[in-house]
Amino acid sequence: MANLLEEQRETWNTRSGFILAAIGSAVGLGNLWKFPYMLYDNGGAAFLIPYIIAMFLVGIPMLILEFSMGHFTQRAAPDAFAHAHKRLEFVGWWGTILGFVIVTFYPVILAYCFSFLLYSVEGIFNGGQLPWAGKGLEGVQQAKDFFYKDYLGHSEGYSLGSLRLEVVLMLTITWAAMYLCIFKGVKLVDKIVRFTVLLPWLMLVVLAVNGLMLPGSIKGLAYYLNPDWSQLAKATTWQYAFGQAFFSLSLAFGVMITYASFLHRKGDINNNAAVIGLADFATSFLAGLAIFATLGAMSYATAAAGNPVSVQEVASGGPGLAFVAFPYALAQLPGSAWWSFIFFFTLVTLGIDSAFSITESVLAGIVDKTGWRRSIVLPIMSFVGLSIGLVYVTRGGLNWLGNVASFIDGTWGIGFVGLLECVVLGWFWRVDWLRKHANSRSEWKLGIWWDYLIRIFIPVILGSLVVWSFYDDLTRQGGFLKNASGNWILPNCVGISIMFFAPVAAILLSFVKSFYQPDRSAQNTQLAKGQNGGVVAFVLSVVSAVMLLILFRLAVLGREMKILLWILLVLAAVSVVLSSYLLQRYNTATTRASWFARWAGMIGTLDLGGFLALCLIYFTKQKQLPKTAASGADELTATAYVILTVIILLIVSGFGWCFYRALSSAKRRDEGMQYPDEE
Ligand code: ALA
Repeated sequence: MANLLEEQRETWNTRSGFILAAIGSAVGLGNLWKFPYMLYDNGGAAFLIPYIIAMFLVGIPMLILEFSMGHFTQRAAPDAFAHAHKRLEFVGWWGTILGFVIVTFYPVILAYCFSFLLYSVEGIFNGGQLPWAGKGLEGVQQAKDFFYKDYLGHSEGYSLGSLRLEVVLMLTITWAAMYLCIFKGVKLVDKIVRFTVLLPWLMLVVLAVNGLMLPGSIKGLAYYLNPDWSQLAKATTWQYAFGQAFFSLSLAFGVMITYASFLHRKGDINNNAAVIGLADFATSFLAGLAIFATLGAMSYATAAAGNPVSVQEVASGGPGLAFVAFPYALAQLPGSAWWSFIFFFTLVTLGIDSAFSITESVLAGIVDKTGWRRSIVLPIMSFVGLSIGLVYVTRGGLNWLGNVASFIDGTWGIGFVGLLECVVLGWFWRVDWLRKHANSRSEWKLGIWWDYLIRIFIPVILGSLVVWSFYDDLTRQGGFLKNASGNWILPNCVGISIMFFAPVAAILLSFVKSFYQPDRSAQNTQLAKGQNGGVVAFVLSVVSAVMLLILFRLAVLGREMKILLWILLVLAAVSVVLSSYLLQRYNTATTRASWFARWAGMIGTLDLGGFLALCLIYFTKQKQLPKTAASGADELTATAYVILTVIILLIVSGFGWCFYRALSSAKRRDEGMQYPDEE
């Protein structure tokens, strides 16, 4: 283990360099462009419930997993998984390929932001004239027309049509900027993120404070914080919340493993992960406050001017929130060109470090595997990424972008890879090694509960979500792959094809001979134990898997078989408990638990996820939660105030705890604490 860490790898200059780079990757367009409209479209504050579960019970523990993995192996995702086991390399490639797909469309949104930034600068110099500005409801239409027709030349449907040259130019500039940020390696990134993380935060605070101080802001907050609980009965709400949390934390597409591989060997893991997760959550929440407070102020200002426009009329949700609704809202308020400048500058600076972090992770994956030079791989990769991105800057491009993104960012994409990461590392490798590794250099320690979180709890939650949302998609009214008249639904077919292409390509890549040959001798020589118990657990898990398939089929046909459901639960639970016990008992320094126990644990855990999904399917079919949204109401409800208070307390106490641990550990270090592998 120790010799692995002796290898020379470039590292961040300082601890703050790593934290800022990881925050820079996490905090991006996902926070300011995507989170507010996701929340608005999916039940307002009710969306925060699955989102908080996703962030704190799944996201941050998985961030620790990815950091430990990258730091322990000092390799990018594919090699990091290859280190665990040669046959697991494909998991790393799968995430990395999804990362590459993200980096083909992410810079396109960034290119829109660059364009709107330039329009705002132009506005500052020509007396505040902005091309999207108009009054009243016609003004809303004008803002929509400006973005969709004048700027994007948007056509409905899925034919691509001609390229939009202005967007192509902006996309090229975006890629050039990303290239310049990373071509010199992480030392330069370390310097850049001081600007691209701290400045947008400051500007976001300014935007939020300004929005909140404007008269009428509370009207907008009502849309943000009043919950519609009925949305919680929908698979899509949970699917979007988890997908958004993964996307926002840059989880399961290689980035965080890669960034941690550049972390100094003494670098903290647990506290850093908590700070980064909290910072990401706080930024999203603040972004929502800034956007909705300003929309409320817009509604107030337009009413006062005799041309009333409600929040609902302008914020029709979807990706247009940042390019139609918010610019329109700013245009109704004093100093609109300056405020638009601040908003789009914030978006550009937030997005650029996320975009280059994804590029860096794909680059590091290729370079680590092949040993090729960065200076050759990066330009080729940038060229390929830019060329594929041209698809999205055609007239029909936005439709394709939305569709591909929804597959990648949800349970078909990164949600599924996240599930796979946890089950394979939890059952087939040694999460206890990773925990000990993380603990040995962290300001607070993880208990053994973390192993169970990674091995059982998170896979059960993610597994149920995957099964629930697959069921939801595949039984959707109007069809998923084919519509009622038997015609293929092209965008979904393409989305599914990409989702199937990724693992196939990942498996093929994992067969390519690696430049890197990990030393696995310590793992290979271990004696396997607990075979008999493992076989029993394995049989139970397979039987419950068969029952799960039968029950799933019955659910599709609209029938329930409750007895079978409970038998499935008992068999799966026994197989998981038994295999957990075997792993606990036989995974020692000289022995390891038999492969039967590992397979049984993995299958049993997935069965438990399937069980939970079936319960949710039955429950939501029978019970429609009553709609509780105070949509249209201009006042915050009492529940909204409680939610606001809880979130502020969560953020403040979370940061307080992390800083307290950092300070007390610094004090102990001054008094001579040692790292275990230095002893
Ligand atoms: N984590 C990045 C974002 O949220 C990708 O934009």
